[in-house]
Amino acid sequence: MEEKLEFARRKIGIEYQLKEKQLETLKKLWDKRDCICVLPTGYGKSIIYQLLPWFLQGERERPGIVIVVAPLSSIIIDQVAFLASKGIKALSLNFEGTGCRSTDEEADVSKLITKDMQCIIDGDVEILYSHPEAIFTKKIGRILRSSIYQKSVCCITIDEVHMIEEWGEEFRPKFKKLGELTCLFPTAAHLSLTATITDTSIENLGKLLQYRDPIIIKANPDRPNIFLEKVVRPPNKDKVKKLDAIIRPLCEEMKEKRENFPVTIVYVENLESLGYFYQYLKSEMKEYQYMGEPKPENRIFAQFHNDYTEAMKCHIISELKKENPTLRLVFATVALGMGLDARCITRIVHCRPPTTMEKYLQEIGRAGRSGAKCIALLYFNNNDIAKNRKGLSEEVIEYCKNFETYLRLQLLKYFGFKESLYQGPQEGCCSNCRANSFK
Ligand SMILES: Nc1ncnc2c1ncn2[C@@H]1O[C@H](COP(=O)(O)OP(=O)(O)OP(=O)(O)O)[C@@H](O)[C@H]1O
Ligand SMILES: [Mg+2]
Ligand SMILES: [Zn+2]
Repeated sequence: MEEKLEFARRKIGIEYQLKEKQLETLKKLWDKRDCICVLPTGYGKSIIYQLLPWFLQGERERPGIVIVVAPLSSIIIDQVAFLASKGIKALSLNFEGTGCRSTDEEADVSKLITKDMQCIIDGDVEILYSHPEAIFTKKIGRILRSSIYQKSVCCITIDEVHMIEEWGEEFRPKFKKLGELTCLFPTAAHLSLTATITDTSIENLGKLLQYRDPIIIKANPDRPNIFLEKVVRPPNKDKVKKLDAIIRPLCEEMKEKRENFPVTIVYVENLESLGYFYQYLKSEMKEYQYMGEPKPENRIFAQFHNDYTEAMKCHIISELKKENPTLRLVFATVALGMGLDARCITRIVHCRPPTTMEKYLQEIGRAGRSGAKCIALLYFNNNDIAKNRKGLSEEVIEYCKNFETYLRLQLLKYFGFKESLYQGPQEGCCSNCRANSFK
């Protein structure tokens, strides 16, 4: 096993030492156990499955094929580009099940589709990313049943597996069928990953995915370098005021700091507010909205949502991947809510609490991935936590109402952990601890 691991490490070209839970998962997969990994945001879950084509190559002449099912296109595209830059044969299937590399210019896509599709049919791929929708098309089904795939696939991975529950009902029903994929490759390894899932959900998932006696690999999801802050915002009846209260301080700070503005993601409740915030900054920042020449790619803020073209989304992600990007602030919807690995992000602002603790932990987990100190600022008002809000969980209401005790622990308790990993001074933990430390 050690030898194969070293071989796989060399292929991917990683210099860091693997962490305890990464190694533990690899060992269990080696022993042919079905695994569900519940490890913190930013822990490094992706590298586990990226090592598998070589680690689980076995007696095959060529590396195995790892199939990765994941929910968000832009994250898939980013990972494919990263792997391709290392010379790894990574491809992705889009919704329709036609191959596409997507990192290339749109104009060339038609050519690439056929070229990539041939690679996919021939099994000339090491890591194949897909949406669940594409996996269950007839065409891909045929490919997966072909002898080359039946021989070569060494692992079926489901990333962000908590989404099965969230999206499985009505929105993206194919998520619920993923158990069929497990059964289609009964002898391959089976691995599911997420940062945010409760014990009850894990049990349901294991069943739904038809895992046999799965091993659960867990670690405390606390991110001690993220300061948790809660602020009450004006009520909804003040339509403009409630938004201005959020955007004005950000705008003032941006005018002052410009290229030194801490890289921030602002999660926005709907497209209307998204447009409002964006226009507000545009009209306030005037010529200062650009670094250098006044052209769109030099603008220091941007908006990210599903209706954007893939090319525009890719531009934003590739900017955020830089150590010190021109882009300093992104207004985003849930479309940028998970998986994004950008080390420069040091602040998350929520204009409104997400409906579940899972979403909240995912979204704040975009910050502080370099280990730097950072802040997650949550705005809410009474309308946001009214019982009639669709999908709103009881725990989020309690979290918002709590102005007394340790917010960090409240968040962790929901995920079944009793202790926080935070060890700094009391005022540096969360806004409640800070208030208590001055009492
Ligand atoms: N053992 C390690 N030591 C140091 N850095 C690591 C290690 N493993 C992975 N990384 C780095 O950690 C970063 C985060 O990895 P990744 O995106 O896989 O996190 P994740 O666990 O999938 O988080 P999320 O739940 O937010 O998707 C990557 O930039 C990766 O290079
Ligand atoms: Mg991830
Ligand atoms: Zn605290």
